Amino acid sequence: MQDSVQIEARHLCKTFPMGQQQVVALEQVNLSFREGEFAGLVGPSGSGKTTFLNIAGLLDVPTGGNITVMGQPSDGASHKAAAALRNRHIGFIFQTFNLLPVYTVFENVEFPLLLQGMPKSQRKDAVWQALEWVGILDKAKARPSQLSGGQSQRVAIARAMVKRPAIVLADEPTANLDAKNSHNVLQTMVKLNEELKTSFIFSTHDEKVIQYLKRKISLEDGRVVEDSEAEARKHEAELQ
Ligand SMILES: Nc1ncnc2c1ncn2[C@@H]1O[C@H](COP(=O)(O)OP(=O)(O)OP(=O)(O)O)[C@@H](O)[C@H]1O
Ligand SMILES: [Mg+2]
Repeated sequence: MQDSVQIEARHLCKTFPMGQQQVVALEQVNLSFREGEFAGLVGPSGSGKTTFLNIAGLLDVPTGGNITVMGQPSDGASHKAAAALRNRHIGFIFQTFNLLPVYTVFENVEFPLLLQGMPKSQRKDAVWQALEWVGILDKAKARPSQLSGGQSQRVAIARAMVKRPAIVLADEPTANLDAKNSHNVLQTMVKLNEELKTSFIFSTHDEKVIQYLKRKISLEDGRVVEDSEAEARKHEAELQ
C-alpha cells in the first residue's frame, strides 16, 4: 500500500434528511490516516466526529466524495464487500461498551472471531492473548454486569483488538470512565499502538485523551478547521 495510508477521505460529504430539510454532518472533509496513527477528532457536539468514524469504519456511506480503506475504494463496493473489509481490518470501541450481557467476558471477546469462522483452538489462544493485553485475565468468567466501567471498557478494547485489526476506531472511549480508569485505558491503547503498530482514531471531548494524542484534528460544523499533522508538515516545508 502506497505510503502505508490506511484510510483516505476525499471531499467527503454526509447529509441526513430531517423532514423537508437536510442536515449537513460532513462537508468536504479531506483526511488521510497512516499506519501507527494515534489521532483524535475533537470539536463541539454535532460537529461530525461520530459521522466521520462511522463512514471510515464502513458502518455508513457518504453522500458525496469517497473513502478508501486499506487501499480499497468503498464507492461501488457491495454491502458484503464492505462487511468483509471491516471484519478483517477494523475494530470498534463505543462509548457505551456494547458488551453482550448474557455472555461472559471470554465469550464477548471471542465473538468477532466466531464471526470470522476461526477454529476453536486458535480462538482460545487469541482471546487469552487479548485479555492479557488489557490486564483482565482474572475476569474471563465474569459477566458484564459484574464489572466496573473501567473493566468493561478494557473488555471492549480486548474485543476490538482480538482479531488484530490494522485500525481501531474509538468513539468517546473514556466518556463513561473516571480519571484513573481513563488513564489506565489510554495507557493500554498507547502500549498496543507502540507494540503492535495498531492505528487508533478517536473522537473525544476529553482533555485526558487529548493529552495522549500524537495528532489532533478539529472539526467544526462538519469541516476540518485544524489538523496538527498538516500544520507540522507545512512548518517543515517552510524550514526547507
Ligand atoms: N442519523 C441521523 N439522522 C439525522 N441527523 C443526524 C444523524 N446522525 C447525525 N446527525 C446530525 O449530524 C450532525 C453531526 O452528528 P455527529 O453525531 O457526527 O456529531 P458528533 O461530533 O459526534 O457530536 P457529539 O460530540 O455530540 O457526539 C449533527 O447535526 C447531528 O444532529
Ligand atoms: Mg459523537
